[in-house]
Order: sequence, then C-alpha cells, then structure tokens
Amino acid sequence: MPEDCVDKPHIVTCTAPVNIAVIKYWGKRHEELILPINSSLSVTLHQDQLKTTTTVATSRSFQEDRIWLNGKEEDINHPRLQSCLREIRRLSRKRRNDGDPILNATGLSHKVHICSVNNFPTAAGLASSAAGFACLVYTLAQVFGIEGELSGIARQGSGSACRSIYGGFVQWLMGQKEDGKDSLAQQVEPESHWPELRILVLVASAERKPVGSTSGMQTSVQTSCLLKHRAESVVPGRMAEMIQAVRRKDFAAFAELTMKDSNQFHATCLDTYPPIFYLNSVSQQVINVVHRYNRHYGETRLAYTFDAGPNAVIFTLQQHVPELVEVVQHFFPPETNGGQFIKGLPVNPVAISEEL
Ligand code: ADP
Ligand code: DP6
Ligand code: CO
Repeated sequence: MPEDCVDKPHIVTCTAPVNIAVIKYWGKRHEELILPINSSLSVTLHQDQLKTTTTVATSRSFQEDRIWLNGKEEDINHPRLQSCLREIRRLSRKRRNDGDPILNATGLSHKVHICSVNNFPTAAGLASSAAGFACLVYTLAQVFGIEGELSGIARQGSGSACRSIYGGFVQWLMGQKEDGKDSLAQQVEPESHWPELRILVLVASAERKPVGSTSGMQTSVQTSCLLKHRAESVVPGRMAEMIQAVRRKDFAAFAELTMKDSNQFHATCLDTYPPIFYLNSVSQQVINVVHRYNRHYGETRLAYTFDAGPNAVIFTLQQHVPELVEVVQHFFPPETNGGQFIKGLPVNPVAISEEL
C-alpha cells in the first residue's frame, strides 16, 4: 500500500541545545537566505541544560500546518518557518523522485503540527532562536526521512541555529556564493577535545529583549561603520586565532579573544544609530568582577561573553568552578540581581538527539 494511504499519526520528538558564540555573528548580506557578513564560532552547550524540545506530528487528518511555541499558537506563515518547511519538503520530494524508498517517512502531502518548548527564557539573549530552529529542522528531517547536511536549512530559520546542529566547537563559514550553498556550519573540534571547559550562565534578566537580534543587526548594518570594519578587517584574523586557541586548548588565548569579541560586538551596538543597549548594570558589574578576578590571580581564569541581551555567559576550567560559584553568589546574590544562575555546564557531547 502506498505510504500516503496509511492513516497512522507519525510523531517524533527531539531536543537541541543552545550555542554561545565566542566570535559573534552580527549582520546579514542577504535577509531571506540569512547570509552573514562575517564567519562566527561558537560552543554548543550540553543537551540536558538550556534546550528546546520539539514534537512534530503528522496525520492525514490534519487540515493545515500549525505551530505552538511554549504552549501558545504562533503564526505558521512566518517566512522563516515557511523557508524551513519548504526546504525539508523539497528534499523529501527529491529523495522520493530519485527512487529512494524512505522508510518510516511521512506522506509528503500530510500537514504537520509542531509543538516546541524552551526550558529557558525565550528571546532574552540566551540563543532561543538557535536551539529552536535547529530543533525544528532536525525534527522535521526525522519525520520526512531526510539525512545529511541540515545546517543550511537551520540557517534559514535563524542564522545562529546552523551552529546548534553540531556539538562541541562549531564554526559557521560565511561562504561566498550568492545562493548561500556554501554558508554552512562545520565542527571544529568535538566536545571531547576539551572536557575541562565549563560554562556558567548568569541570568541577569529573563525578560524579552527590547530589540530582537534580527532588527538590531539590520539597523547596525545600515548605520555602523564600526560593524563594517569589524566584519572585513577584524573577524577573519580572529576566527583563525580562535581556532588555534581551541585546538591548543589555550584557555588564556581563548578567553581574551572571547571577551574582546563580545566587547566589540556591544561596541557596534553602541555605534548603531539610534544606539542599542543590550548590557545592563549587572552585565557591567560582571565584566568588572571578571577582570578584577583575573588580575588578582595574575592569569586569565575567567572569560565573559554576552549575546544580544544582558545575561552573562562565563567560561572557566573545571578546577575553578567551585570558587567561581562562590564569587558569583557573593557579588550577585539573587535578591540584588533578580536572577538565578546555572552553574558549571559541560560542553555538549552530541548536538541533537531524538527522544524515543
Ligand atoms: P534569542 O536571543 O533568544 O535567540 P532572538 O531575537 O534571536 O532571541 O529570537 C527570538 C525568536 O526566535 C522568538 O521570538 C521566536 O520567533 C523564535 N524562537 C524561539 N524559540 C523558538 C522555538 N523553540 N521554536 C521556533 N522558534 C523559536
Ligand atoms: C548576538 O541568529 O538570533 O547571538 O539570524 O536574525 O535570527 P537571526 O539572528 P540570530 O543572531 C544571533 C546574534 C548573536 C551572536 C551569535 O549568536 O553569533
Ligand atoms: Co537569536
């Protein structure tokens, strides 16, 4: 019997972790395809920590595609959701036309119901769009029987999402082609390469950021000459240095590049007109505490980085985690910063998994 005639619902659930960029992506050269003006590099977190869980169900009885995000129905016609759905269905159709019998794959004409939940604040500068779209694309790929390169599709949901397809240390090569076919993520080193590296997330505010990443970077591209300088003259060298620092497991070099790149990204936000302020007073205190701590020991033991929001991500090595937790508790007790922190996360072994 043709597969489309079998009326059994097909349900797949997957999880994907966030990734934190240490060389930041900020600025597009193509809006719809989501092609960046510079390459970037990130560390994927552990699966069990900050993650998205997405369930996709298909059934012949569904009338239309639908999506729920954190329990609330969202507009399925959002162009980025449509790009991902279209690409997945196109690949699935191609595989079938090539004569590949896709076992367990759903009928192409079937509509999907997508239900996605983030276990951390959404749109607060903790990379929800990265985990969210990586998870969406991966789960849809399972449902429609697609194997192989998925980062190019995840990229069309949210740029940073292409890096969450892989675990460990991941670069997103900006690519040169107009159609974006070479703008893909690639693993630089697996997480097993540097098991002592730890990440601490300090949630200074779980609120939705006032300016989303997409519109923030659009204004930066239009108005900031510092961003142009950064993309053309700073990032290429930094990418090479960062890859070397990761390969050598040179924490001091990794930390310095990470902090400088975060600072330059926030400087481009300030250079944007009108300016965008993602950091708040807690973020600024974190920056000061980290530099004081490193100065006290006469070596670089901690590094901070901030995405488009005030929440701090601190890198350190396992041996310093207990003291770092004490320092954070001392300087940022929950009653003064209104936040919480998530401690000592290991870097992720496998980026995305299917929950069976
Ligand atoms: P963040 O810093 O959290 O990545 P962004 O402004 O980049 O913030 O993106 C937030 C947007 O990403 C949300 O408004 C939503 O459209 C999308 N998003 C977040 N989580 C998910 C998810 N689990 N599935 C699909 N889209 C998501
Ligand atoms: C500061 O990937 O969220 O986190 O591509 O428009 O969805 P869109 O933007 P997004 O931007 C992330 C910006 C960043 C830096 C980074 O993750 O590299
Ligand atoms: Co985002």
